[in-house]
Amino acid sequence: MTDFIKVGIEKIGIYIPEKYIDLSKLAEHRGIDPLKWTEGIGQERMSIMTKDQDVVSMGANACLKILDDEDKKTIDQVIFATESALDFSKASSTYIHKLLGIQPFAKSYEIKQACYSATAAIQVAADYVRLRPDRKVIIIASDISKYGLKSSGEATQGAGAIAILISSNPKIMEITKESVSLTENSFDFWRPSYSNYPFVEGKFSTQLYIDSFIRLIEEFENRYPGKLSKVDALLFHLPFSKMGRKALKTLESKLKEGHISIEGFSDNFEKLYENYDKSIVFGKEIGNIYTGSLYLGLLSLLINGDLEGHSEVGLFSYGSGAVAELYIGKLNENYKDFLYREDIEYLLKRRNEISIKDYENEYFDDQPTQSQHFLENEEPKDLEEGYYLEKIVEDKRFYNFKEKI
Ligand code: HMG
Repeated sequence: MTDFIKVGIEKIGIYIPEKYIDLSKLAEHRGIDPLKWTEGIGQERMSIMTKDQDVVSMGANACLKILDDEDKKTIDQVIFATESALDFSKASSTYIHKLLGIQPFAKSYEIKQACYSATAAIQVAADYVRLRPDRKVIIIASDISKYGLKSSGEATQGAGAIAILISSNPKIMEITKESVSLTENSFDFWRPSYSNYPFVEGKFSTQLYIDSFIRLIEEFENRYPGKLSKVDALLFHLPFSKMGRKALKTLESKLKEGHISIEGFSDNFEKLYENYDKSIVFGKEIGNIYTGSLYLGLLSLLINGDLEGHSEVGLFSYGSGAVAELYIGKLNENYKDFLYREDIEYLLKRRNEISIKDYENEYFDDQPTQSQHFLENEEPKDLEEGYYLEKIVEDKRFYNFKEKI
């Protein structure tokens, strides 16, 4: 029976912080040729967290425009995907459940596997809805990517949140059952619980990412011969915008050299590169948002590209450590009508640039670890509308909402 039920993404919301820095200016400040970061890494700007936001408020803000009262009554699960957890025990989704007013008999939990976990959540949600087509699941992918000042990963930081509503009315994209996953216990990027920053073997991580992609392509073709030849776009987890392109290039050479074959695959790389370029438009402006990055790429392609309804796309999810998955999504006929295009364009436009000095002075202040009052009795100046972290009292976090004036 579940074979006949289509499930997938009904809505996608986004939140990005109000501040950014210009990477060419940071490169100059560091004595690095700016082209290394703008061309070599492929990043232009980087989102910077403000003091009044954390992963919870960013996640709640990503849901703000997309959830209506009917959704809130039918959501059974609030899944929070993050690698910037605030607590070892309490899930960030418990706050979100309350802030958004989701019906009380829902479960809320947090999941982790580096940048991969939002995809795990999507698959859990899709299976849940296949069995209960009248119910919905909301997934929040919210992260702050920090490598440390002057670190080799400094140009690949970022911050932001994506919210994805899964239901049996996939107005944007159906999640098909064709998927293959891969686990390989490795130390390419990891963050022990005592460390503020991740440890990263940069070059090894890029190689493992590419190897995982190629292994998944081969296994996918084994299990579902000919399916890959139908995709019009391949979407990638985007730690920086050149990363997916490197993986795509490797696939192209392996196919050309005959190391891999894909049934029915004619040389459609021109189309794949064209769509790839549309998928990186937002990421180049925002940076790595870890768990949400693949879905920021999806949003970027759907908004900036011109894929036709019913097109199929391959999604490559990768989380260091490492777990990866390749699956196929099918676009809805009128998917363009259900994207919050103006909202994301507005979010990008309303940002303010901060100086490198402010970035260095403020951004790297540690997150508060004990009772602190931030904005009690005042509202954040830069935030036009939405949730913000108001205070931490006796190690308990409290959020407030700023109404649009
Ligand atoms: P690096 O080692 O300083 O950079 O940092 P590089 O020397 O490799 O140079 C980068 C590119 O710029 C190269 O191009 C250079 O040739 C080029 P490529 O050879 O790769 O095509 N270049 C220039 N281009 C134009 N003009 C110039 C110039 N100079 C050099 N003047 C590295 C790169 C990725 C290692 C670093 O940024 C890093 O460690 N980043 C963090 C780790 C990362 O993002 N890894 C990606 C795969 S793992 C992953 O995606 C998971 C992750 O999201 C975490 C999670 O799952 O939670 C990270």
